Amino acid sequence: MSTATNPHEKPRTPTAAELDEMTPDQVATLAANLDDVVVVKNTPKFPISGTRAERRAERAVATWFVISALSGLAFLGVYLFWPFEYVAPDQPGYFVYTLYTPLIGLLLGLAVLSLGVAVITYVKKFFPDEVSVQQRHDGPSDEVARRTVVAQLVKAGQDTTIARRSLIKRSAGAAAGVLGLGVGVAAVAPLIHNPWKGRDDADLWVTPWRSINGEKVYLRRDTGDPSEISLVRPEDQEAGSMETVFPFRESERGDEEALHAALRRSDAPVMLIRLRPGTPVVHREGQEDYHYGDFYAFSKICTHLGCPTSLYEQQTQRILCPCHQSQFLATEYGKPIFGPAARPLPQLPITVDEDGYFIARGDFNEPIGPGFWEWPGFWNRGRS
Ligand code: FES
Repeated sequence: MSTATNPHEKPRTPTAAELDEMTPDQVATLAANLDDVVVVKNTPKFPISGTRAERRAERAVATWFVISALSGLAFLGVYLFWPFEYVAPDQPGYFVYTLYTPLIGLLLGLAVLSLGVAVITYVKKFFPDEVSVQQRHDGPSDEVARRTVVAQLVKAGQDTTIARRSLIKRSAGAAAGVLGLGVGVAAVAPLIHNPWKGRDDADLWVTPWRSINGEKVYLRRDTGDPSEISLVRPEDQEAGSMETVFPFRESERGDEEALHAALRRSDAPVMLIRLRPGTPVVHREGQEDYHYGDFYAFSKICTHLGCPTSLYEQQTQRILCPCHQSQFLATEYGKPIFGPAARPLPQLPITVDEDGYFIARGDFNEPIGPGFWEWPGFWNRGRS
């Protein structure tokens, strides 16, 4: 079938039967003509195949794909097997632990970067030098145009010589496969750990403030030395101030691991706030006796996304979360009054023992942290 001989002349639209008889090259040329595209220049990078320069270029591309595949594999290995659990600075294994985050960042970055470099190198080294000029069209494409696009893509694939470059295809497949596997593992791995293991004692049901066998749980400061136990007494704290406290049991004294664990558990930090005397307070129903005098203890973990709500504004009695500016009112059971948080900060019931030290009267009676834990099943467990 003949199409237009003058590249600027619109070709006759072929019938479906004529299209079926055409070779892919003819259909691709027809596609260009139908789209008012004039190919001014199309020069392959390696007109003679099998030269040393061509093989060198091919090896360069494959090398980058291989680097990407190896980095992806190393990322997977580190992600799955490197010790990632927190180790305190003075504990054995601290240095190895500190390498975890830099290593997974570095290896994943290298895998993605070398994949990108490989693709760019391939385009630069093997795509033909082509200059085409196209007139602009209005309106949707007709059926012929849609069919010819496919032929154009096939021809473009042939021009880039990818079909006969098995080394590049294999190394690219390995790089993309390993990277895809790594991303898949990273997405699925957190779902494998069962947070409900331990049933009623599972980490998601209880916090370190729960008393075990009736043992007292004291409020302690973090002095920077986990083995130095500094308990909190009411007279230690000035009116209008806030202090961060953690749980402590006498049975854990001298137990380095347990003391470390109590300081680093994400649901352990509590803000102990001493309101100024005479400050009017609204109590939450059922929690009227959770405070001790002017002292109120709230979880420090923001109910929006779990940041530490570390700022207490003495003048307005507001607790501020620096992450997304949620504000909670210390004088109204930690109720959110501004920002994205929708749930009050859980309040810890506290009192003072016969020796004058603050202790918890029980565990929190609601979930700590982000609101997505607030599912109906939790409330049906009669946790208070
Ligand atoms: S985490 Fe506190 S406001 Fe978002």
